[in-house]
Amino acid sequence: MTDSKGFFLTFEGGEGAGKSTQISLLRDFLASKGIDVVLTREPGGSAGAEAIRELLLNGAEDKWDPVSEVLLFSAARRNHLQTKVFPALSAGKWVLCDRFADSTMAYQGYAYGEKSVPLSDIEALYKIAAGDFQPDLTFILDIPVEEGLKRVEARSEAITRFEQMKLDFHKKLRSAYVNIADANPERCVLINAADTKERIHERIVSLVMQRLF
Ligand SMILES: Nc1ncnc2c1ncn2[C@@H]1O[C@H](COP(=O)(O)OP(=O)(O)OP(=O)(O)O)[C@@H](O)[C@H]1O
Ligand SMILES: [Mg+2]
Repeated sequence: MTDSKGFFLTFEGGEGAGKSTQISLLRDFLASKGIDVVLTREPGGSAGAEAIRELLLNGAEDKWDPVSEVLLFSAARRNHLQTKVFPALSAGKWVLCDRFADSTMAYQGYAYGEKSVPLSDIEALYKIAAGDFQPDLTFILDIPVEEGLKRVEARSEAITRFEQMKLDFHKKLRSAYVNIADANPERCVLINAADTKERIHERIVSLVMQRLF
């Protein structure tokens, strides 16, 4: 689906793990090396997908059931890839994406417990939305749930639907991300996100240098 010349890097992990912080530090580092970087996020990143983001993140916890969520995320993902990510990669840019398909798998595929969507359905919808496209490298930021949520509370931004979920939801989420990292060692690196911002950034830079330069 894309004649990719750039790299697509994704940042994953639970609420407050430090994804947005690290993505912005890496953007600054790459820009200082003269690399053309596009910073984006899911759900969202393009006009259509940002409109879907509003529907997904705001409102009551039970506003959507997990299947409806996967369908909305998939539509947003396709729009985002087609209108923003693929054109940037074709132009040789590096695209850094704050959350991507591993979050769909972790949230809708694991964290809802019995109400989770079968993994095979999530994989099938990914294929419909994105074809064979995969990130070149994924950082999974891992932090104890309570610590991540404490960071979110301290941040003074509006609380989203997912941040309102119960502690058990966030614990399932954390172990799902660890499973995803274990199952995809070529693509994913699990990062200890309880460390300082600076040390996490150094680790991410050294992994990028090792794997992509
Ligand atoms: N390593 C760190 N140590 C201490 N505080 C941190 C660290 N990384 C980020 N923070 C702070 O924690 C808060 C959450 O970080 P950030 O917004 O980057 O997380 P996030 O993973 O993007 O969260 P969300 O899932 O809600 O988007 C911010 O206020 C940020 O400044
Ligand atoms: Mg964030």
